[in-house]
Amino acid sequence: MSNYNEQLDRNNSHSTIDLEASRELKSKHRKDEERQNYTQPSPKFNSSVSELSDGPSGNFQMTSDEYEEERMHVFKVMTALKNYPNHMSMMINRVDRNFLKLTPEHRQMLPDFSDRLHRLKAAIKTNTDFINTILSSCDQVFVNSDVANRSDLDLANASINDKTLQPSLTKMDIDKVITTLKQFYRDWSKEGQKERDLCYKPILDSIQSYYSNSTLRSSIKILVPGCGLARLAFELAREGYTCQGNEFSMYMLLASNFILNSGSDVYQHTIYPWVHSQLNCWSVEDQFTPVRIPDVCPDSLPKPGNFSMTAGDFLIVYKDDNNQWDCVTTCYFIDTAHNIIEYIECINRILKPGGLWINFGPLLYHFAEICNEFSIELTYADIIKIMTKDLKFELLEERNIPSTYIENPNSMLTYQYHCAFFVARKTIL
Ligand SMILES: C[S@@+](CC[C@H](N)C(=O)[O-])C[C@H]1O[C@@H](n2cnc3c(N)ncnc32)[C@H](O)[C@@H]1O
Repeated sequence: MSNYNEQLDRNNSHSTIDLEASRELKSKHRKDEERQNYTQPSPKFNSSVSELSDGPSGNFQMTSDEYEEERMHVFKVMTALKNYPNHMSMMINRVDRNFLKLTPEHRQMLPDFSDRLHRLKAAIKTNTDFINTILSSCDQVFVNSDVANRSDLDLANASINDKTLQPSLTKMDIDKVITTLKQFYRDWSKEGQKERDLCYKPILDSIQSYYSNSTLRSSIKILVPGCGLARLAFELAREGYTCQGNEFSMYMLLASNFILNSGSDVYQHTIYPWVHSQLNCWSVEDQFTPVRIPDVCPDSLPKPGNFSMTAGDFLIVYKDDNNQWDCVTTCYFIDTAHNIIEYIECINRILKPGGLWINFGPLLYHFAEICNEFSIELTYADIIKIMTKDLKFELLEERNIPSTYIENPNSMLTYQYHCAFFVARKTIL
């Protein structure tokens, strides 16, 4: 899901040094999620808006050890979410403490400071309420597994008061929670439309133009690996294609399950995605700008059965799904690989002959420069060579398109990526 997030954070870095540090943390965190077994093919969303096809991972079986490991991971994610207000109160205390260290004269120069502190507390309370709403919807998130259920949540609740029950949480865990909140801005707010137009729109337009002759859109199967909070996959289903999103981060899975399946009305929820940092603000309003979500009704799909989600590592979930997909579209995803060649091979294998791969994103390899992490950092030219010469993809289009990833539009600091957009066709031979 971003800085550059594990996905997630392509946002909010304050300097080159911080960028590197944050990148390392987040990549490690992602690794942690992987180790915690979200690499297993499977559980699919139990979704009121998505059809629960058997898919490639229908016969998934976990050993009891794996199951226990999975549960512990879910419990840890839930506990991190529950701990959001505690972590944020540390930030509030720091701000308060530092203000009190000012001389009386300096304090007088900031007459609205206590009001600001109240706003900070209120905004964090609003975010906390939203997180609790997500958690309360976590019963039966998955069809074929009972991890992420009420008893996991009860345990996470109990652990808030009884620290002996608590898994050890790090700053990385809380970073994930914050990134999840910001991801709602990107995918499900009106304000995020500008950012979505930069990256999702070229993909949507391209799919529309390549399949303009199709009489029956629902017969076209599109896969979106690493779909985050699933807005791109949702938009494709809304346009009538049969679309499946895939994601392996439990933070993203709990959050997307909530937004897709809880029957939220348009603009029902309010969050403050930028409240966690006081840096680079033109005015105090920049920190306290709320966004209301969702900007569309998630159960407004014309054909709900066209949309499904799978949970797990893309390379594992789809390992046996040969020649199944008309189109695979990757947005800010391919650089999450340890070895991007495996991603390219997998996409080639699962596409039908003549199927399309549409990619959008930079190459900020998530495991780069991390000690003891395997990471192959290929250039764009290397990737195109492997696709076209070794795997015989036909390159139909390529462009360099600027875009952003979870950027506060009002911040003094924004990062812009020059993203590689391409459309390639799998060979028919
Ligand atoms: C940078 S985010 C992009 C999210 C979304 N595509 C977007 O554009 O907002 C990358 C996403 O890929 C997910 N991811 C990373 N490696 C994955 C894997 N091997 N299988 C499935 N999802 C993965 C991460 O959890 C994260 O949500």
